[in-house]
Amino acid sequence: MPSPPVYLRPDVAAEPLVCRWTAYEKMVAPHLLAMVVKSQMDLLASYIRFPAQHLKARLDPALVGGPWVDYPTDRSKEAEALRRDMAARCAPQLELAASVKALDDMLRTEAVGGSLGPLYARVPDALRGYVELVYDLSHQPSIRFLEGLLYVSRFYDRSLQSLSLWRLTGDRRPFVWTTPVFDDPHRVTAPLAFDDPSVDAVLGAASCPLPAGELAERLGIGNDRRGALDALVTTDPPVMRSARPEAGVRVRYFGHACVLVETRDVAILVDPFLGYDLPSEVPRYTYLDLPERIDVVLITHAHSDHLELETLLRLRHKIGRVLVPRASGRSLQDPSLRRVLQAVGFPRVAEVGELEAVEVPGGRIVAIPFLGEHCDLDIQSKCAWRVELLGRSVMLAADSANVEPRMYHQVRRLLGDVDILFLGMECDGAPLSWEYGKLGLRPLARELDRSRTVSGSNYAEAKAMLEALEPGRFYVYAMGAEPWLQHVLVLPQNTVSPRMHDPRRLIAEYRARSTEAEQLYGRKEIALDAR
Ligand SMILES: [Fe+2]
Ligand SMILES: [Fe+2]
Repeated sequence: MPSPPVYLRPDVAAEPLVCRWTAYEKMVAPHLLAMVVKSQMDLLASYIRFPAQHLKARLDPALVGGPWVDYPTDRSKEAEALRRDMAARCAPQLELAASVKALDDMLRTEAVGGSLGPLYARVPDALRGYVELVYDLSHQPSIRFLEGLLYVSRFYDRSLQSLSLWRLTGDRRPFVWTTPVFDDPHRVTAPLAFDDPSVDAVLGAASCPLPAGELAERLGIGNDRRGALDALVTTDPPVMRSARPEAGVRVRYFGHACVLVETRDVAILVDPFLGYDLPSEVPRYTYLDLPERIDVVLITHAHSDHLELETLLRLRHKIGRVLVPRASGRSLQDPSLRRVLQAVGFPRVAEVGELEAVEVPGGRIVAIPFLGEHCDLDIQSKCAWRVELLGRSVMLAADSANVEPRMYHQVRRLLGDVDILFLGMECDGAPLSWEYGKLGLRPLARELDRSRTVSGSNYAEAKAMLEALEPGRFYVYAMGAEPWLQHVLVLPQNTVSPRMHDPRRLIAEYRARSTEAEQLYGRKEIALDAR
């Protein structure tokens, strides 16, 4: 008898894993993954030795976001088994990480201005053929990684990847950077690489049903796990709430930095990050509110709350193409986002350089320079997006820090007025070592490290941006406030922080001058007539 068609329940999360760790943006490019795996091994070693300290630290608000395994019970025995498994399966990645460190150390001592030619013979074996040694004009040496070759080397191993499905009971999830995924009777973990076409069929079953037997087969699930899989599916079709706008431009805020800009002819989704359909006090748009087809996805930058692999894979079956800011693609801190997304199964990804435009039906999309927010590292893979449709313009600035207001005056002179500005003001961000430490950062004095943060615009910077652009209205967004992204984003729980009061002050000032302004939370719909 044929098995009945089933849908994935709207509260089922499908986490992409690499070696039992939830994959985030630094866990795809082979050289970055190597450094992350090394840091995960170190973290597991600490947890195995001091599980009680981890249990205590995870509950201390002052230590939130620190290197603590985020489980409420002692799982150190499973951590031990995982560490043994990783030592065997991730041996090439660990060799690569050690080789990068050794080469970097060698360059610091040996590359002091003379020819780099003789040093090639001393490049660690694992890196031979995958790097060029270079200086900048100040004679500072660095490693140029040949990414195209690394992705087709033994260091990119799709068999480390899997997809783990489970039913959420609430928005609270463990902090993924520091918490591996251990076995759980309610989870179905399938040995699927991220680029496997079955991922589209399985996750597409949220709206296009699959025979139950085919779903199990695509997930590689035997009869012994069918009970767990049955709990993740339903025969009830979901109620889609996704009619396209009849006229004009409709803008919907899906939480944090995720914004859908739509006309009758085109749907553009920025920084996809969806909450799930769960009983909650926070109203939200979800998967069910998305159109059948998303023509273009825009990524502003490669931080976990903006380039989120779980949502991207969940939507891949309905995404036409992805536009990303052009990276240098040569260093550990600035890998090519195009290659990252192609590796996880997006066939149509294009890089857009600063002030370059891409045509879409009824308008165009322009990449705007994005300054700051990356701890003053030389990172090019970041841009704000200006979406021009039906004579209207919406600018999504994400975490752009307005460190140089003159830039926006020049942008306005070049591109004209903005109807709506979405502006991030997450202005007390984490220090350099928190965001980039695992990539082999050299130690820096604490006060210097603390002075270089992952912070968006503060009151003065945001105000200067508004004075330059004079948007018709503005919305403060990307504040990390919604409960469904706390597992990738740790923010200080301090009510007197500038992140809390700077937006309020700015919004009050502009409202007093009759400018529409609001800090967004949960969801919001904005309609614009065609001009
Ligand atoms: Fe960011
Ligand atoms: Fe952000």
